[in-house]
Amino acid sequence: MKVSNIIIVEPQTSEEFEAYFLVRYNVLRKPWRKPIGSEKDEMEKDCTHAMAIDSNGNIIGVCRLQFNSPSQAQIRYMAVIESEQGQGIGSRLLQYLEDKAKRNNVKNVILHARSSALNFYLNCGYVNNGKSYLMWDSIQHYLMCKLLK
Ligand SMILES: CC(C)(COP(=O)(O)OP(=O)(O)OC[C@H]1O[C@@H](n2cnc3c(N)ncnc32)[C@H](O)[C@@H]1OP(=O)(O)O)[C@@H](O)C(=O)NCCC(=O)NCCS
Repeated sequence: MKVSNIIIVEPQTSEEFEAYFLVRYNVLRKPWRKPIGSEKDEMEKDCTHAMAIDSNGNIIGVCRLQFNSPSQAQIRYMAVIESEQGQGIGSRLLQYLEDKAKRNNVKNVILHARSSALNFYLNCGYVNNGKSYLMWDSIQHYLMCKLLK
């Protein structure tokens, strides 16, 4: 079932960024017992951040777009909280950031997908270019790309 009453916004205040990074940490780092702080990198301030907010004001999904070059952007740190997965939220976040890339005249989008998310990205029009790297000796990633229309 798709949820319709969510909005996609970009975090603005330091409180919003704190809550945004916490969702990223809880979904992508905590289950592997990685330390707080491991969910961020040195490029955060140069990236576009998007978050899905439900009707109660809770952040239920987050994602980041980084510009690798004038012609290529990269989706990173896509995370939807477990109880809200499978309702179209990841697709909405992806759509928002792809639109952002297009508005910046970037049509070539790449990402490294965890094997568990491969089918999600295939469903969203990305092409699998094969294995890229193994994270923490356990999570296989795949390089995927999409040419935006
Ligand atoms: C992967 C993830 C971002 C997908 O977000 P989501 O909100 O659950 O996905 P959506 O509901 O938007 O799914 C969009 C489509 O992909 C499909 N899909 C989603 N996750 C899937 C999966 N794991 N396997 C197969 N298909 C999947 C859905 O069925 C849907 O297809 P439909 O439009 O034909 O119904 C989310 O499940 C998640 O955060 N997982 C844990 C963290 C993670 O792996 N992040 C990605 C790191 S690379």
